Amino acid sequence: MKNILVTGGCGFIGSNFIRYLFSETDFNGRVVNIDKLTYAGNPENLAGIKEAFPNRYFFNKTDICNLSELTGLFETFEIDAICHFAAESHVDRSITNPGDFIHSNIEGTFCLLELARQNKNKLELFHHVSTDEVFGSLGKSGYFTETTPYNPSSPYSASKASSDHLIRAYSVTYGVPATISNCSNNYGPYQFPEKLIPLMILNAIEDKALPVYGEGINIRDWLYVEDHCKAIWAIMQHGRRGETYNIGGGCEKRNIDIVNIICELVDKLIPDTNTAPKKNLITFVKDRPGHDLRYAMDFSKLKNELNWTPAETFESGIEKTIKWYIENTNWISRVKSGEYKQWMKQQYEDRK
Ligand code: NAD
Ligand code: DAU
Repeated sequence: MKNILVTGGCGFIGSNFIRYLFSETDFNGRVVNIDKLTYAGNPENLAGIKEAFPNRYFFNKTDICNLSELTGLFETFEIDAICHFAAESHVDRSITNPGDFIHSNIEGTFCLLELARQNKNKLELFHHVSTDEVFGSLGKSGYFTETTPYNPSSPYSASKASSDHLIRAYSVTYGVPATISNCSNNYGPYQFPEKLIPLMILNAIEDKALPVYGEGINIRDWLYVEDHCKAIWAIMQHGRRGETYNIGGGCEKRNIDIVNIICELVDKLIPDTNTAPKKNLITFVKDRPGHDLRYAMDFSKLKNELNWTPAETFESGIEKTIKWYIENTNWISRVKSGEYKQWMKQQYEDRK
């Protein structure tokens, strides 16, 4: 792989992946990042990369549904691999505004697949980044494996499930060389503060209410974002074409336990004797409609075939993450645009 087209590289995981590729691997080719720059996309997430790698990093503000623009970029940069992150990614937004998810996640993936089909002979790999949410909800026991039937609950997960099906269909029908990874919940630097962990960190720092949905007993399987990037790169290099790989943290936690851990760490990292313990800010609010109870990944296939396991523990990863948000107040004030304030206000109204 010499010239990788990364979609959605200005988002949370995409930007961490590009940073990882340039700083932690022996990849010596070019990265062409295409991103529409939605509310979640921020070129600042890649600050310093163009300066450090002027001949190897390129950015183009494009919607992945724009096939003619994609075709031009494919030819200009002699693309031979695609790593597809671009998506609408927030479940709550998919409940209030599903249309954007159909556009970017289904039509967008279809456009990229058409690009791949037309250029099949020049393409070494199309890697599709997907989610554990396609499998639906687990009960109290058991794990998702690569053969668990799809059973998505939200417009977000249904749109990601559709995109996975399209990837498989193009792989089987047209011979597009594809791999898929389905990953559990990520956390770490540059995550947009609408998701549980960054939202709770920022609200705790700012002494604002910490809105826990329902009783806080839903369980997610948490993975530090750099471990996700390592897994994706391992699959891109050595994964078997046509295969799907589950990625997970082996770290199941109830939401309320996550919020309590964050409160304790913020109390420790910003000792302020004038404010009460951050736990006093916890507020139980109306539950998310169709809220999946539990996700947990069996990632033994990835471990056995590609020798991947998560390196970061939750204890070290969450402390690093909180420190990052404390130190990056400029980034935070810039992502909290008018759109963000409007979204948060609406969330508050809807959940009263
Ligand atoms: P994000 O919302 O932070 O970033 C998404 C990026 O995609 C943004 O930069 C946005 O501008 C861009 N984008 C959206 N629609 C686009 C379009 N039509 N054309 C071009 N660019 C577009 O998302 P994330 O958390 O970084 O997730 C990245 C991928 O990983 C998604 O596909 C998501 O489904 C998947 N995933 C996320 C998690 C997680 O915990 N965050 C876990 C598993 C899988
Ligand atoms: O599992 C992988 C998925 O993880 C990714 O595919 C999605 O892109 C990503 O957004 C994430 O989805 P979740 O819905 O699990 O993440 P979120 O951070 O929105 O919520 C995590 C849990 O916390 C969930 O049970 C809902 C709850 N929650 C969330 C928010 C934003 C709260 O209790 N309060 C909140 O304010």
